[in-house]
Amino acid sequence: MRVPTPVAKSQKTMDAYHQEALDSGLKDRTLLAQLWPFMKPHGVWLWLGIVSITLGAGLSLLRPLIMLHAIDGSLKTHDPDLIFWGGMQFATVALCEQLLQFAQTYAVQVLGARSMADLRVSVFAFLCRLPLGFFDRQPVGRLVTRVTNDVDSIQELFNSGALNAVGDLLRLFGVVAIMLSLDASLSLVAFAAMPVIGLLMVWVRRRARDAFRSIRGETARMNSNMNEQVNGVALIQAFGQERNKAIEFDGINSSYRDSNIRSIKYDAIQDAAIDAVGSVSLASIIVALGYHGASFGTVVALTAYLAQFFEPISQLAQRYTLLQSALSGAERVFGLLQVPDRDAPERTSIAIADGSREWALEFDHVSFGYKPDYDVLHDVSLEALPGESIALVGPTGSGKTTITALLLRLYEARQGTVRVHGRDVTGLGRDELRRQFAVVPQDVYLFSGTLAQNVAAGEAPDLARVEQVLRQMDIYELLGRRPGGLETVVRNGGSNFSSGERQLIAFARALYRNARILILDEATASIDSQTEGRMQRALEELLRGRTSIIVAHRLSTIRKASRIVVLQKGRVVERGTHDELLQQNGLYAALHELQFSREGSAAPLDEASQRAAAPPAPPAPA
Ligand SMILES: Nc1ncnc2c1ncn2[C@@H]1O[C@H](COP(=O)(O)OP(=O)(O)OP(=O)(O)O)[C@@H](O)[C@H]1O
Ligand SMILES: [Mg+2]
Repeated sequence: MRVPTPVAKSQKTMDAYHQEALDSGLKDRTLLAQLWPFMKPHGVWLWLGIVSITLGAGLSLLRPLIMLHAIDGSLKTHDPDLIFWGGMQFATVALCEQLLQFAQTYAVQVLGARSMADLRVSVFAFLCRLPLGFFDRQPVGRLVTRVTNDVDSIQELFNSGALNAVGDLLRLFGVVAIMLSLDASLSLVAFAAMPVIGLLMVWVRRRARDAFRSIRGETARMNSNMNEQVNGVALIQAFGQERNKAIEFDGINSSYRDSNIRSIKYDAIQDAAIDAVGSVSLASIIVALGYHGASFGTVVALTAYLAQFFEPISQLAQRYTLLQSALSGAERVFGLLQVPDRDAPERTSIAIADGSREWALEFDHVSFGYKPDYDVLHDVSLEALPGESIALVGPTGSGKTTITALLLRLYEARQGTVRVHGRDVTGLGRDELRRQFAVVPQDVYLFSGTLAQNVAAGEAPDLARVEQVLRQMDIYELLGRRPGGLETVVRNGGSNFSSGERQLIAFARALYRNARILILDEATASIDSQTEGRMQRALEELLRGRTSIIVAHRLSTIRKASRIVVLQKGRVVERGTHDELLQQNGLYAALHELQFSREGSAAPLDEASQRAAAPPAPPAPA
């Protein structure tokens, strides 16, 4: 037995993360029914398409009949005019058919483009409403694939004229009826091959569907991989991992190629088999003619109809393959739309325990874990009066950011209650709750847009106010001096700004929002003393008149707080004012001492926590 190497083990873990459930369990009929609401508003195009398809199918049936009458008529009467008029009729019918062809192609594709645009918007809007916990489990590229490639594969159904299947079926029935009426026994010889085609379609269906499912899955993997690698390209280059990453990508690409080849194989088998069956049918008619007399016109018409008979069958088979591809996309899109979670749904049950309105913020014996069986917060209680500023202090991973996430109800407490102005957050509407907060996150994210748009956080920026906010914080000179000023374009999540500048922009964003409660998750990265001073002044502006909860790493920030709550491994271990905590001589005091004895230490809080946790050193021998 081979012992898995660490590399193979990590690879397995990652493969499991990227593996998607390929079969959503939704029935084909359900999938198609779910498409309907998106097509319905564009019904005009649908009807235009169906009408032109039907008329086109009817006209195409006329052509061989025109030929039959022209040929047999002129042979009988020796009147050349009959051939001429037959030709004219044939040309008129063919021209009308082409016009109808144009109308239906246009109508059906417009229908597809419009309804799929609607679908894309609703998938996107749906994604935005999902709780954060959902995104923790999904690679970004996979979600991007759902909105783009998977919806495209459904749209292909319209572009390739899947609705023409209606026309194909009509033509098929028409051809069968006319052939039978022209010469029943010859036609039956031709139809003998039908069961073979039926069996073939059944054989191909499952296999093609599986191939398309894996194509869609591999596309998602490829997009996820691309997304991660482009985002991390600086790191990849710094660590010289270009080759390894290329090999990783090649692995995914090869699986994608193989799935593609598999689907091509079934498509080709199907096409070739149908053509073969068609030729055999034609041959059998010719053989049968040896024993069976028919007029020359009938033979010409029958062979023309026979060609017309196999054309829709072959078309239907191709559309069927496309349908499989589209359904495999629909499975993924509608499978996603089935996710039952909603971000912070408002609850009205009696379990909601509103508390005293005295507190602006309150955690009442809250426990929480990102995973069901592993808590990262244990029985946390803390509260803040309106206008108070609470500092959260503790080593890395102790749960500070998690507390701020629970306040915004980005995640939900497993036990206990979180209240804002006395109201249980689960009883508040999402917007009503979040409107009360301005947030400066630990890792600042800037949107693509201008600097001003970023300060306005998505709203149409009021430039005068943006400037006023920046001046109020005394950072206008710093940010506004860039060549583009407030209109500087922010690229790639803010990569063209330094991390200190990003922090300041986030401060400005919070001040612009002017909410009642401020959540500030201070960045751990150290900054130069000049920026530090600037941050302090900006922060003072931000705190004025607001309730705030601050995850603090710098003592200067901590000192400003009304009260300090010290966390360790998800528990509140100390609380009080700066002076009280120093007197307690515990974790906070240890941290404080470190901060002053070792200015500039990268992670004083971690060391402090280790010290506080360690048993007292034995007394030195006298
Ligand atoms: N999205 C997540 N999914 C699973 N676990 C998480 C997630 N976010 C955080 N954790 C875990 O929860 C614990 C608390 O994390 P949290 O981010 O609250 O720490 P923190 O006190 O803010 O640390 P830091 O000072 O480094 O920012 C950590 O053990 C972390 O690994
Ligand atoms: Mg944090």
